[in-house]
Amino acid sequence: MDVQEWEQRHKEAFSNVKETIPYLEGMFVAYNSNIDFIKHLTEEDLSRLIGVFKETEIIERIETYPREIKDPLDFMARLLMSMREGKAAEIPTHNSDIHEWLKEHLGFDYAGMGGQAGIISNLLSSLELKKVVAYIPWLSQEQAEYFVDTDNLFHPTVENGKVFLKHPREAFKSNIGSKVNWILEYSNNLKVSCDGRDFNVPRDNRLIISSRPKWLRLDVDKEVYEQLDSIFPIDGAILSGYQMIKEEYEDGSTYKNYVASSVQVIEKLKSLNPELRIHVELTSIQNRVIRKAILTEIVAKHVHSLGLDTVEVANALNVLGHEELSYSVIMKQEYGIASLYQGAVQLLKDLSLERVHVHSLGFYICILVKGHPLTLKEHRDSLLFSSILAAAKAIRGNIGNFMEAEIGLDVPISSDGIEDLENFKLYCVGRKLCSLEESEYGYLYGPDHDAVIIPTKVFDKPKATVGIGDTISAGAFAAMLAKLKQKRS
Ligand code: GLC
Repeated sequence: MDVQEWEQRHKEAFSNVKETIPYLEGMFVAYNSNIDFIKHLTEEDLSRLIGVFKETEIIERIETYPREIKDPLDFMARLLMSMREGKAAEIPTHNSDIHEWLKEHLGFDYAGMGGQAGIISNLLSSLELKKVVAYIPWLSQEQAEYFVDTDNLFHPTVENGKVFLKHPREAFKSNIGSKVNWILEYSNNLKVSCDGRDFNVPRDNRLIISSRPKWLRLDVDKEVYEQLDSIFPIDGAILSGYQMIKEEYEDGSTYKNYVASSVQVIEKLKSLNPELRIHVELTSIQNRVIRKAILTEIVAKHVHSLGLDTVEVANALNVLGHEELSYSVIMKQEYGIASLYQGAVQLLKDLSLERVHVHSLGFYICILVKGHPLTLKEHRDSLLFSSILAAAKAIRGNIGNFMEAEIGLDVPISSDGIEDLENFKLYCVGRKLCSLEESEYGYLYGPDHDAVIIPTKVFDKPKATVGIGDTISAGAFAAMLAKLKQKRS
């Protein structure tokens, strides 16, 4: 595989996408935004934290696999579980006890915009889209301050029953609290020792403790729903935050109500512009009932595009009844990447999607329905563009404009990614998914789908890992949609 060739392709993709972005009229981005308290863990932090507990108790708690943080021991157990595998996870907590505990026992380095919709709105506004309309059901004044100060960013606000679009800093709701999450970032090779079990962290990643205050509701205000046409013209919507839906609420409502109203919003958006494309960005969803409902009732049949990472592919396959495939995706054995590819194809089919974009460290795979109006080269440009954004985000923490995004071009392509793709090439050629020549381009032709696979740029000392996945998915989706618009114009 010619690395220089891929570097050149990155460069060309960047200028191609930069030219096409102005074709987009607007993007709608909902639902989740929160404030992230970000803390990079050092070895000292960690041994101090472990020292608060009896080490045998931590190990015992790990064995119970807590899916929710009810006390500090649950937190400690999930942190070590995440670090041992180097796998990101997001664990909910339903009261503020752990927040206070972490403030007292750990503290944080800095606070930043969090939540997929918050991160994506800021990114797209900085990339000079004509219009980005964010919608956060729980937009507090404090939260609004974390949105970038650009004049292409809007949020609906209701005045005398009528909906207006204003900057989020002028559209917040008063008398509402803020949602704060804790992001515990850890680095590759960090040494961990607990109860005589020692390990080295295998890669940079993070654990997220996600607060779920009682007032958190994933819905759209009645007036905004009724006057949804006021956010148009828009060409696409990026939706996320469905993981916030609970099985049951104190007022007797259940997840079914929230799933149904989410679908109504999607259908109304599509009816207002039949060419509109909808992308859902998945994340770690601990509750299996909710995970399944999101996939089978919101994503399937209503949505066009899905973005997710390797662990999320495995988790999605698991609740859709593909346990064996899920297991081989997670185990990453010899055929790890082949399983990941098969898993992504399975998701495209099971969920009737047009596009599934999987981001993995060192490469991305994008599975496409046959007959998609863009060429594989055009899809590849979108992915390459997002690889540059990911590198820039890793270097800078935030991308303020195209010039800052361009810095990502200086980051080299991951040699691990190249190696993974080299191995995968044999599988693809052997199964006649492509010829040897086509594999050099990253194009695959399956019986019922096409695919693009690219090696990506990876910056080895990321400022933080949080939000990189959102940046990748949103950047590629926006680039893809801009190209579609350009072709139709
Ligand atoms: C989830 C988390 C949020 C984080 C984001 C990054 O939305 O809740 O804290 O900023 O993921 O992807």
